[in-house]
Amino acid sequence: MAKEKVVLVDIADRIATVTINRPDKLNALNKDVREQFVQVMDELEDNDDVRVVIVTGAGDKAFVAGADIAEFKGRGGVDQLHVTKRFGIFEAPERLPKPVIAAVNGFALGGGCELALACDIRIASDKARMGQPEVSLGILPGGGGTQRLPRLVGLGNAYKLLYTGQIIKADEALRIGLVDEVVPHDQLQQRVRELATEIAGKSPIALELIKDAVRASVRTSLDDGMRHETTLFGLAFSSADKEEGVNAFLEKRTPDFKGK
Ligand code: COA
Repeated sequence: MAKEKVVLVDIADRIATVTINRPDKLNALNKDVREQFVQVMDELEDNDDVRVVIVTGAGDKAFVAGADIAEFKGRGGVDQLHVTKRFGIFEAPERLPKPVIAAVNGFALGGGCELALACDIRIASDKARMGQPEVSLGILPGGGGTQRLPRLVGLGNAYKLLYTGQIIKADEALRIGLVDEVVPHDQLQQRVRELATEIAGKSPIALELIKDAVRASVRTSLDDGMRHETTLFGLAFSSADKEEGVNAFLEKRTPDFKGK
């Protein structure tokens, strides 16, 4: 029997929208979502027609309300280790060499907050509610909440969220840097699309190299990061896109980047 599609993909105008589709469970991440999401991300990597990816949740209420808590009951440590390692859902957006924008359209809790954290940019609806409530279940975040969150919002803000399990509103998430922009709920998809369209017009090679360099910035020393950037900068000069970008500037026209 064919599996239910719990991750939907829509591709238009070089932008792929990936929608977690379990609205009756507030898009909680069960095994099928993890598996399909990673599969979809791999397919998008190979699809040259896609230049930017948007990740969002189905329905009007949630981005993703966390890992599927029903699957936790009775699960042992080794099983959980295998689930987390096997699917690597929280690595997939970061590993994808294309810009990934999270459109946070409601609850982004636990694994949902962590999935948003794994994306490059977070745009939130004013109805978004975010947090890491794992502590209330007697566990800790397992998808980067203790790692990406402090890097983004600082140690104190991260400890506050992690120790209390508090769920914060969009304006507070913006204040501490957990999201990058907040827009009225009914304008979220339009705003995210507008941003994605702007990015999709840039050179895919430059975008890939930028992502690679910025990822290095949180993993390496400043000296190593600067060296890495210098190498990538040199590499960019071997692309046809660089010639096109420079020529377009000199000829006062819009560049037409081919990703070559
Ligand atoms: N895992 C499994 N099911 C979940 C879920 C999760 N993380 N979050 C929500 N759901 C399910 C609910 O069980 C409910 O299912 P049901 O209709 O079959 O009973 C459905 O989604 C709707 O959620 P409900 O709790 O009725 O909505 P609400 O508006 O009253 O509350 C939340 C919304 C987000 C506050 C609440 O659902 C919640 O606290 N969810 C868990 C959040 C969490 O702890 N996430 C971290 C997990 S590690």
